[in-house]
Amino acid sequence: MKTTLQIDIKKTEKSRLPETDFDDLVFGKSISDHMFVADYVNGEWTDLRIEPYAPLHLNPANATLHYGQSIFEGMKAYKNVEGEILLFRPDANQKRLNESAERMCIPEVPEEVFMEGLFQLLDLDRDWVPAKAGASLYIRPFIFATDDYLGVRPSEKYKFMIFTCPVGNYYSKPVSVKVETKYTRAIEGGTGFAKAAGNYAGSLYPALLAQKQGFDQLLWTDGKNHQHIEESGTMNVMFVINNTLITAPVNTGTILKGITRDSVLTLARESGMKVEERFLKVVELEDALKEGRLQEAFGTGTAATIAHIAKINVNGKDYTLPEKTDNAFSNQVLRKLDAIKYGLEEDTHEWIQKV
Ligand SMILES: Cc1ncc(COP(=O)(O)O)c(C=O)c1O
Repeated sequence: MKTTLQIDIKKTEKSRLPETDFDDLVFGKSISDHMFVADYVNGEWTDLRIEPYAPLHLNPANATLHYGQSIFEGMKAYKNVEGEILLFRPDANQKRLNESAERMCIPEVPEEVFMEGLFQLLDLDRDWVPAKAGASLYIRPFIFATDDYLGVRPSEKYKFMIFTCPVGNYYSKPVSVKVETKYTRAIEGGTGFAKAAGNYAGSLYPALLAQKQGFDQLLWTDGKNHQHIEESGTMNVMFVINNTLITAPVNTGTILKGITRDSVLTLARESGMKVEERFLKVVELEDALKEGRLQEAFGTGTAATIAHIAKINVNGKDYTLPEKTDNAFSNQVLRKLDAIKYGLEEDTHEWIQKV
């Protein structure tokens, strides 16, 4: 990638690589040596720099701590057999970050600031990208308000940062989910489509209640009537009924436009599978479960790519899904996506960018 921006680089004096056990990585706990930082001051992103990963010093009056003007992204980089670093659809994350930014009154980050910051950070920390099959580097870009001011108004100053974490083979065991018909994650006109920190804070309590009842996650329903399925906590959700792939549309502003979701739908359509982007009613889901017509249900997201759903609780009743065969659509699409991400299969969609 051609560099046109000035990014100052201050390297760490002592890498934490030697003390990092790549065979025992806990998601989000091991953090790579460096971070990218840019400050938004006087209407522009300035002081672009890469420096050793370190704590931040914040004033107690920091606006984010009080009013939550904070957004983030999540994406991954992979190492191919030649040891090259492959990024999966970073342009889509950059675009989504700015869509979140607009909704939360946060200034957009220009594409070149995002991309060059990201590429230079990954270039510097390339040894942190695990080489093992199934492992990857999780990347966390985020923006937050930095005004020291108690008052409800958009901050004038912000920080954009990126740090990364090596993560192990993320195999998601089949999950059990509960259809949530009391609490609401998002409502039309709200912030559901944005990757805004507060959306996640608000979802914690209902998710905790469900966990106490023995469920791994929730299936959120629409905030108005709780009549149709929207998405899961950190995943979009898909169903296969009558050999048709059904998933909620993302034009109501209540659902995060998942990049994995889009990739799965693209591959499904290419494979000739019938796809319906429409809301699946809770009663429709329950009828399909009762009559054994629900062939597959799974979540899609960056962390697990595909998380099979083994059990669904609807209106207090548990339904067990058939076990996923190797030939199940979700397994086929998982293998295909993994092959593309690790450079084992030709990237015909221009999804991969090499660092
Ligand atoms: C609420 C929510 N829905 C869906 C997703 C899946 O999005 P993606 O496939 O881009 O990771 C995520 C994860 O980022 C999420 O937090």
